[in-house]
Amino acid sequence: MPQSLSGKKILLGISGGIAAYKCADLTRRLIERGAQVQVVMTPAAKEFITPLTMQAVSGRPVSDSLLDPAAEASMGHIELAKWADLILLAPATSDLIARLRAGMGNDLLTTLILASNAPIAVAPAMNQQMYANVATQENISALTQRGMMIWGPAAGQQACGDVGYGRMLEPMELVAHCEAFFGPKPLQNIKLAITAGPTREAIDPVRYISNHSSGKMGFAIAEAAANMGADVTLISGPVALATPANVTRIDVESAEQMYKAAMEHAVINDIFISCAAVADYRPSQIADQKIKKTDDSDQMQIVMVKNPDIVASVAALKDKRPFTVGFAAETQDVKKYALGKLAKKNLDMICANDVSVEGLGFNSNDNALHLYWKNGEQALGTACKQHLAKQLLDIVVKQYQQYSK
Ligand code: PMT
Repeated sequence: MPQSLSGKKILLGISGGIAAYKCADLTRRLIERGAQVQVVMTPAAKEFITPLTMQAVSGRPVSDSLLDPAAEASMGHIELAKWADLILLAPATSDLIARLRAGMGNDLLTTLILASNAPIAVAPAMNQQMYANVATQENISALTQRGMMIWGPAAGQQACGDVGYGRMLEPMELVAHCEAFFGPKPLQNIKLAITAGPTREAIDPVRYISNHSSGKMGFAIAEAAANMGADVTLISGPVALATPANVTRIDVESAEQMYKAAMEHAVINDIFISCAAVADYRPSQIADQKIKKTDDSDQMQIVMVKNPDIVASVAALKDKRPFTVGFAAETQDVKKYALGKLAKKNLDMICANDVSVEGLGFNSNDNALHLYWKNGEQALGTACKQHLAKQLLDIVVKQYQQYSK
C-alpha cells in the first residue's frame, strides 16, 4: 500500500448521521496509507457507531467529552486542536454545519474547531431536502468563504428512501481528497481556468435547451488543481454544487456568456481546460413573452444558430495562448471522434469519455477517461471523478512543462 498519508495527523470528527457507520472503514483506509487518526465524536454520533469500534480501528481512545476531567488531563481539547494537520468532519450533519457557521462551542468537537488553526474539510451528509434547504446552503457557502473545504456530498439513494444530493462521499473518495490535500503542489504559481457544467440556451422567458452535465467532473478538476497549488478560476454553467475551497468561481448561463468569460480569462491563464458541455446551437431568437400553445398545429419549430466554439477559440489565440485541454463526450467511435476534435480544434490534449456507458460520464460520480495528445495517449480506468481529476492533472502538468519550455 503506498504510504501517501505517512505521518499525517488527521482528526476525524464524527457527527450524528447514519453515514457514521462508514467511519470505521474510512479510518482503516487512512491508517493503511500511513495516517494517524484521532477520532472525536459528538454525543449523537455515538448513537450510530460506538466509541469502542472507533477506538479499535483507530488504535487510539476516542475523545467525546468536553467536561471529562480524565480526558482533559490526557489530550485535552486544546492539545487536540493543536495536534491535527487536518480536521475531517465526516459525516457532517446539517446541525454540525449550522453550529460551525454560528461559531458555537457546545461540545468537544465544535470547541476544538474554534481553538484550531488546522485546515478543515467538511463532508456533508443529510437528507436531500435538508441539504437543499436555503439555510443549509447559506451555511455551507459561509464555511467555504472562511476557507473550509467542502468534500461532497454525492447524489443517490438515501437511507430514508429519498433520492438526491446529500449522501456522504464514500470512504475511498474521502481518502482521495486527503491524498490530494497532502500531496505535492506541482501547480504552484500556475494559473488555471476551467469551464464546467452545462449551458442553458433560452427559448423564451421560462424555457431553455440544455443537457445533463452536473458539473461534477469540472468541479473535481478545479478542486484537485487548487489542492495541487494552482490559482484556479472556474467558469461554471448552472449547477447545484458548492464552490471548492480556494477557487474563484464565475457563474454563467449561456454559451455566449461562457465564451465571453472564457476569452477574458484564457489570456491571463497558463492552462485552460474546457470540461463544460457547451450547447453547440442556440435558438436564433429568444421570445420576449412565454410562447403559447396553439390549437392549429401539433408541431413547432425552433430555428437554431451555431454557438461560438469556446475551446477552439482559445486554442486559436495567437498571443498569450494557454496550454489548452478539451474534452470529447462521445457515444460511438470514441477514439476517432476524439482525435478528430484534438486536430480540428488545435488542442494540446483531449480527454475522451464514452458517455453511453451506464453510470459514467454525465451526472454520475464516476467516469473513465482516455487522454490523447500529439505524441501520446493514456487510458485512465473507471474511477470516481475526484481520483480521475488528480490523475488527469498529473499528466497535464507533464505536458504543460514541455509546452512552456
Ligand atoms: O458535468 P458532469 O455531469 O460531471 O459530466 C462530465 C462531462 C461528461 C460533461 C465531461 O466529462 C465532458 O465530456 N465534457 C465535455 C462535453 C462536451 O460538450 O463535449 P463535446 O465533445 O461536445 O465538445 C468537445 C469540446 O469542445 C469540449 O471540451 C467542450 O467543452 C468544447 N466546446 C464544445 C462546444 C462549444 N460550443 N464550445 C466548446 O468549447
